[in-house]
Amino acid sequence: MARIFRRKKVLWLVLLAAVVVFTLAVLQSSGNPTELRAPVMVDVVVTPSNTADVSGYVSGQVKYLNFIISDNVTKPSPTCSPIHNIAFLKTHKAGSSTVTSILQRYGMTRNLQFALPDKPSHTFAYNYLSKPGGRLTLQAVIPLLPGKEEYNILCNHAVYNRTAFRLIMPSDTVYISILREPFSQVESIFEYYGVIGSLARVNPSIRNFTNPLSEFFSNPYKYEKGNVHFSYLRNKQAEDFGLSVDELFSPSKFDEYLQQLSQDFLLVMIMEYFDESLLLLKHALCWDTKDILFIPKNKNGRKPRRNFTDEDRKRHRKLSSLDYKLYDFFLKRLQDELSRQSEDFFQELDNFRSLLTQVKHTCETKSSFFYVTATRWYDAFNVTAEDCNILRMPELVALDVLLKRARPPVVTPTPLSGSKIH
Ligand SMILES: *[C@@H]1O[C@H](CO)[C@@H](O)[C@H](O)[C@H]1NC(C)=O
Ligand SMILES: *[C@@H]1O[C@H](CO)[C@@H](O)[C@H](O)[C@H]1NC(C)=O
Ligand SMILES: *[C@@H]1O[C@H](CO)[C@@H](O)[C@H](O)[C@H]1NC(C)=O
Ligand SMILES: *[C@@H]1O[C@H](CO)[C@@H](O)[C@H](O)[C@H]1NC(C)=O
Ligand SMILES: *[C@@H]1O[C@H](CO)[C@@H](O)[C@H](O)[C@H]1NC(C)=O
Repeated sequence: MARIFRRKKVLWLVLLAAVVVFTLAVLQSSGNPTELRAPVMVDVVVTPSNTADVSGYVSGQVKYLNFIISDNVTKPSPTCSPIHNIAFLKTHKAGSSTVTSILQRYGMTRNLQFALPDKPSHTFAYNYLSKPGGRLTLQAVIPLLPGKEEYNILCNHAVYNRTAFRLIMPSDTVYISILREPFSQVESIFEYYGVIGSLARVNPSIRNFTNPLSEFFSNPYKYEKGNVHFSYLRNKQAEDFGLSVDELFSPSKFDEYLQQLSQDFLLVMIMEYFDESLLLLKHALCWDTKDILFIPKNKNGRKPRRNFTDEDRKRHRKLSSLDYKLYDFFLKRLQDELSRQSEDFFQELDNFRSLLTQVKHTCETKSSFFYVTATRWYDAFNVTAEDCNILRMPELVALDVLLKRARPPVVTPTPLSGSKIH
């Protein structure tokens, strides 16, 4: 038993090391102006030199996961039935990886059917179902497994298109998303995607400024050619929500679109109210507290501290007006929702937060186990070492596990000679 545990640990350490080394390598290279596309997609690019490490590790991990994951991680509440059909519109740098991880864990432990991008693992943008300018189609999704009748969870990046989502997901799907205060979102995206690289290709002088983002806000047209209204630095969240120049130039169309979004999305979480949002999600989906535990994912640890002026903020508000309108609308909706909650909700919130602290602490220590006694909000449950392993699992590793499950190995009677084709 002890040996198995040690082996698991070693596997995890190897994976973590691979992920860290790779992330550092990509982050370092993102400042290089000759790197044409990599800076834009830091979260998906796996270079050939480290693919073997990552996939080798992951395939070892899959067996392990099949071994540990049971089908009854949490008990359903007796008063409502848990919702399994969920489309999560995954926005950029707004806490969405953490939400995706929660959905991945939920579906993984219940063997739900994910609508996953039909692309080979570790290829460019393999975690995207559709990108701006691209069409989301059923053909972009890995076909249903035999015996499955519908997709349950969609939680990879895709630009929202009401019709296209509904051609993939069943009619009883619950739509959710998350937004972040646009200025902190743009600060984060600027660093994470190494956006300075693409600005410098247009005009290298951007690299001479101690605060390049502030310089960009002052002179956007110097660094983005032509009539740009949507980019990593402009209206990115609105773009994810499917907004276009139509809504940018016509306030009435914007209002109309917002009303539609408001009807379509049961919950738009707000990163500044992350725990509150998750608790609302738990109630809306009739899930258990254990289902919404998390360890933050894909956080930007290397963001430099920069000072911005009020003028910077005003300029960004003008450049990304759709993001601000969208955010303000859904922020208000969430705050209204919170103001309707009873005292009990906020007591549950306190309890949830202390659980989160405990999860983070326990899953980072050797013991990796804790017992949670029953409260009026949930039955007793344990957070086991196995739970910790899934909770710590990086989003893309979980995606690899899901991709493997979604594509059962094809048995070929006679192996082809010659080199392996991946
Ligand atoms: C599921 O839960 C039941 C009762 O709580 C338990 O007896 C059973 O062993 C569990 N199954 C798995 C696969 O963990
Ligand atoms: C949305 O999807 C539908 C169905 O695939 C397609 O006909 C339509 O052109 C798409 N709209 C946009 C703006 O891409
Ligand atoms: C940026 O600074 C370097 C020296 O630090 C200088 O040689 C170069 O001309 C500057 N570039 C621009 C575009 O201002
Ligand atoms: C930001 O402003 C504070 C207070 O004025 C100053 O102490 C600090 O050095 C500034 N930081 C940067 C990175 O400019
Ligand atoms: C939690 O773990 C302990 C010790 O293994 C076990 O006795 C108990 O039944 C578990 N509780 C639940 C709710 O699974």
